[in-house]
Amino acid sequence: MRKYDPVLLKDSLSSTALWVEQELDQLFMYQRSISRLPSFAGYSLGSGGKRIRPFLVRAACCAVGGDPDRALHAACAVEMIHTYSLIHDDLPAMDNDDLRRGKPTLHMTCGEDQALLAGDLLLVEAFGVLLRTPLRPGRVARMVRHLASAAGPGYLVGGQYMDMYHPVEADMDWIRLMIKGKTAALIRVSLELGALAGGAGDELISEVSREGDRLGYLFQLTDDILDIRGSTSEMGKKVSKDSDLGKCNPVTKLGLDTAIKEGEELSSDIAEVFSGLSGNWENISTLALYLPDRRK
Ligand code: IPE
Ligand code: IPE
Ligand code: MG
Ligand code: MG
Ligand code: MG
Repeated sequence: MRKYDPVLLKDSLSSTALWVEQELDQLFMYQRSISRLPSFAGYSLGSGGKRIRPFLVRAACCAVGGDPDRALHAACAVEMIHTYSLIHDDLPAMDNDDLRRGKPTLHMTCGEDQALLAGDLLLVEAFGVLLRTPLRPGRVARMVRHLASAAGPGYLVGGQYMDMYHPVEADMDWIRLMIKGKTAALIRVSLELGALAGGAGDELISEVSREGDRLGYLFQLTDDILDIRGSTSEMGKKVSKDSDLGKCNPVTKLGLDTAIKEGEELSSDIAEVFSGLSGNWENISTLALYLPDRRK
């Protein structure tokens, strides 16, 4: 089993959090609005998120030798889409959660109607923010296409649908497809956007996409494991919910021990593949190694 330095990773995650949060604060501070929706969106975007997706954007940009500041708007955009997906995921019509990022979920504070609209705001604004990327228009357009696809019906939205309406006897192929959509697509596209912002070529982007999918599966697998093994205080959200909600995931399907074993094997495998890619992907390899150990 390869080792990683948890202190270095923690530092790297907190400096990325600072980097993206400063920009998000600016974006929301100066918004003039006809409604209270920007401040509701700011509440959910605010502290408590691990900022894993911005970390992936930044690390992928640096991995290919790019200037991370070129990837800053992409990092904000993926975090905004992720936060919108959490606001909607927590609504009573979906997972019905009342705690997120250690605080009451948005709909608990302002009602479902306004939470729904604040989510809409984040989804739309994410594309406006991505368009500010200081790169050639052709490259920015390509980034927008990647993000629109990952957030759309073929991936995030479609995967969330599958999560809500699973067949009685879903098999692992079906579960993998659901996760590829609801969670892995945003993880994958974070790496793609970072690599695109850093100027990576097509061949490398496809290798990164393939591994990004597997990293995304691993991320959701560990989330499903933590629903059983994790604590509400560390996770900042309620645990022990998935089986009550009748969710179909690798843990409810294969059992906890098999899921843990799969996570450990996948983690070292992904770390190995990233280490072999052209560029310096050590930060991503480290994240892959850390995921099975994460407690939040
Ligand atoms: C939670 O994502 C939703 C999943 C895809 C499992 P995170 O665990 O990244 O949540 P935050 O951003 O840190 O709150
Ligand atoms: C998250 O899946 C998928 C999203 C796109 C938000 P979960 O429903 O398992 O995420 P948590 O556990 O509520 O964070
Ligand atoms: Mg859900
Ligand atoms: Mg949920
Ligand atoms: Mg979960």
